[in-house]
Amino acid sequence: FRQVSLSDDCNGRTPRRRLIKVSVIGAGNVGMAIAQTILTQDLADEIVLVDAVADKVRGEMLDLQHAAAFLPRVRIVSGTGIELTGGSDLVIVTAGARQIPGETRLNLLQRNVALFRKIVPPAAEASPESILLIVSNPVDVLTYVAWKLSGFPASRVIGSGTNLDSSRFRFLLAEHLEVNAQDVQAYMVGEHGDSSVALFSSISVGGMPVLSHLQRNHRSAVTKKVFDGEALEGIRRAVVGSAYEVIQLKGYTSWAIGYSVANLAWSLLRDQRRIHPVSVLAKGLVLGVPPDRELFLSLPARLGRAGVLGVAAELVLTEEENKRLRQSADTLWGYCQALAL
Ligand code: NAD
Ligand code: LAC
Repeated sequence: FRQVSLSDDCNGRTPRRRLIKVSVIGAGNVGMAIAQTILTQDLADEIVLVDAVADKVRGEMLDLQHAAAFLPRVRIVSGTGIELTGGSDLVIVTAGARQIPGETRLNLLQRNVALFRKIVPPAAEASPESILLIVSNPVDVLTYVAWKLSGFPASRVIGSGTNLDSSRFRFLLAEHLEVNAQDVQAYMVGEHGDSSVALFSSISVGGMPVLSHLQRNHRSAVTKKVFDGEALEGIRRAVVGSAYEVIQLKGYTSWAIGYSVANLAWSLLRDQRRIHPVSVLAKGLVLGVPPDRELFLSLPARLGRAGVLGVAAELVLTEEENKRLRQSADTLWGYCQALAL
């Protein structure tokens, strides 16, 4: 195959653009679901997979490489050393223990903090300009831990937070209202876990505020549904119980978190400035919580190439929503404080 130049201007060389490198630390169920979703999106030029188990991560790498004929051209690298991640634009951390059926996310804390002490400092040193995206659980407390251990500005340390819970919320609302989940705007905020908060008051469908309209008119013109407080509370409970149900059934969750994190990666690396509920430094941002508490929890945040570009500081919440958010913040703060980092 002889290379010919069709243009004198570039002497046959392809014009250069900056290549995008994404690293995934932890090549388990979640790490691989994220890596494969990012791969199909043509978002990265290089994907690095790092795992403590050498054979497993090499096997995962080869298996993805063998799909080369069907995918965009991406360099896929793997190994056990964090140094492989050097120069990454985005470092996604999924390494760590996961829940057994019935176990809470917060119960994983001590095991995963010990792991983060080994992973985060070298990862931050290898990619000092990167964005750290934390997925391992309990994600809010571990995002705080990663922020402390990395020394990065808070704008570049993000937890996947309730981006996933909000998708579950939108899915269940969409099923109930018989509409497309993409037309449902709805947020879960606070902890990614048992104390997450459903923001019922701001649900909208096709741009129409649903709850206030239903409460006033008893029936929605868009969805033909009547107000049903019990159904909404059932949906909130189902969102909180979603992961427990999937873990009980298949042992772990993977596909939805894969899409959720790939969606965040897209907003960050492509500078989309989209609003996502993700775990961010919420110091001074939750009404009624002392303003000096350095805790991470999910609030709607604007994401772009520099990381967190802004956080919705003045959410319009009902009294009940605010009380629940405060309780979620208190729960998380208790765990952060006990770590004494
Ligand atoms: P898994 O057991 O399949 O994978 C974890 C991987 O981490 C394993 O392959 C293991 O070898 C690797 N690992 C352990 N120590 C390591 C180290 N020092 N360096 C590199 N890799 C190391 O578990 P999973 O199902 O992929 O879940 C991973 C984590 O993600 C869990 O903490 C789980 O709770 C969490 N999770 C979070 C969300 C979310 O929404 N934030 C969703 C699903 C799962
Ligand atoms: C989830 C994990 C277990 O799927 O946090 O919600």
